[in-house]
Amino acid sequence: MASSLSSILVLTIFISSLSLPPSLVLAKDPCHFPAIFNFGDSNSDTGGLSAAFGQAGPPHGQSFFGSPAGRYCDGRLVIDFIAESLGLPYISAFLDSTGTNFTHGANFATAGSTIRPQNTTLHQSGFSPISLNVQSYEFHDFLARSQVVRKRGGVFETLMPKQEYFSNALYTFDIGQNDLTAGYFLNMSTDEVKAYVPDVLSQFKTVVQNIYGQGGRYFWIHNTGPVGCLPYVFERVPILASQVDEYGCASPFNEVAEFFNRELKKAVEQLRKDLPLAAITYVDVYSVKYSLISNGKKLGFPKPLRTCCGHGGKFNFNLNVGCGGKIKKQGKEVLIAPACQNPAAHVNWDGVHFTQAANQYIFERIVDGSFSDPPTPLNMACYRKGH
Ligand SMILES: *[C@@H]1O[C@H](CO)[C@@H](O)[C@H](O)[C@H]1NC(C)=O
Ligand SMILES: *[C@@H]1O[C@H](CO)[C@@H](O)[C@H](O)[C@H]1NC(C)=O
Ligand SMILES: *[C@@H]1O[C@H](CO)[C@@H](O)[C@H](O)[C@H]1NC(C)=O
Repeated sequence: MASSLSSILVLTIFISSLSLPPSLVLAKDPCHFPAIFNFGDSNSDTGGLSAAFGQAGPPHGQSFFGSPAGRYCDGRLVIDFIAESLGLPYISAFLDSTGTNFTHGANFATAGSTIRPQNTTLHQSGFSPISLNVQSYEFHDFLARSQVVRKRGGVFETLMPKQEYFSNALYTFDIGQNDLTAGYFLNMSTDEVKAYVPDVLSQFKTVVQNIYGQGGRYFWIHNTGPVGCLPYVFERVPILASQVDEYGCASPFNEVAEFFNRELKKAVEQLRKDLPLAAITYVDVYSVKYSLISNGKKLGFPKPLRTCCGHGGKFNFNLNVGCGGKIKKQGKEVLIAPACQNPAAHVNWDGVHFTQAANQYIFERIVDGSFSDPPTPLNMACYRKGH
């Protein structure tokens, strides 16, 4: 009797542990991130560059927002899907002083941002003056001033994050691609670009350390994508036919991106040692983007390198006339770089950026931790590696 009871008990425990997902067996509660603070470039810009240098025009935003929404995309970016999945509103651009609400975070990213300051203007080089160090100054200022403003009460209190949100927030990063193209656009060789990557990453580490020093604890860091699969790079920097891979991507630029990513991963490992209370997740977005492009046909994206919004050439891309570009014909403005019929069947939006459909695909692959080190899902990113 006793033995049959205990075997029933054992069996019950066995069955119930089988039917539970592993995360529940470990009994860790999902994290509660009350805010997101994002640092980056156009891959996660939700209106920063638009606020400072003029709005991104139509047809940007057409697939989701119905009109331009400060994003270089037909709709949502990966950072928007991240905010949605954490139950937070889309995060407002810090530089956007009209109609913004920073209760649940702020976005310091601007299109064209690099980690290192570029010593050129936007109009000279196309790179944003809001490099990562500037984004970090903005964050520092926001941390202090948001609390001063909150104390005014009334509507101001409803527009700013609470003090404690800063230590509980998720700090997200997606930056580095423009540091690589910056060298190539100055006619540097691959070896010359590689040679400055350590300096770029040392400046990246400094910013993460600064944020930690101000109380940030949870970091979600995207690596850089296969920049050699983007028309704005391979149409501008000459390469040999033998350097084009089987999917049409330019190998030298992708190899530099992979080199950057290996070094970034080492930098993250160093940061884990230097910042003992930080939970830092490194996310291999490169692999997701490359597999999306290389399996494009199977996944419903028959021409993954060809832009949806553009004009001319093999890739529907022209270096001088970008997405939404117009010319004057007999006094009338004529759209010569319109969007395609079905953006959802394209990976590439405008030669530089991914479409909403691609961003959603990327988000869905990374959200469960399959591409993360440690393999932490997004909603568990407050737990430290090995804890
Ligand atoms: C910008 O100029 C400073 C000072 O001359 C230099 O240290 C830095 O490396 C330059 N940045 C780049 C990206 O070349
Ligand atoms: C700002 O957003 C928060 C959270 O969504 C909301 O509670 C608050 O009312 C908003 N403030 C204004 C002025 O709309
Ligand atoms: C790079 O090389 C091209 C072709 O030789 C030249 O037209 C361009 O001016 C050079 N750019 C820079 C920044 O030196």
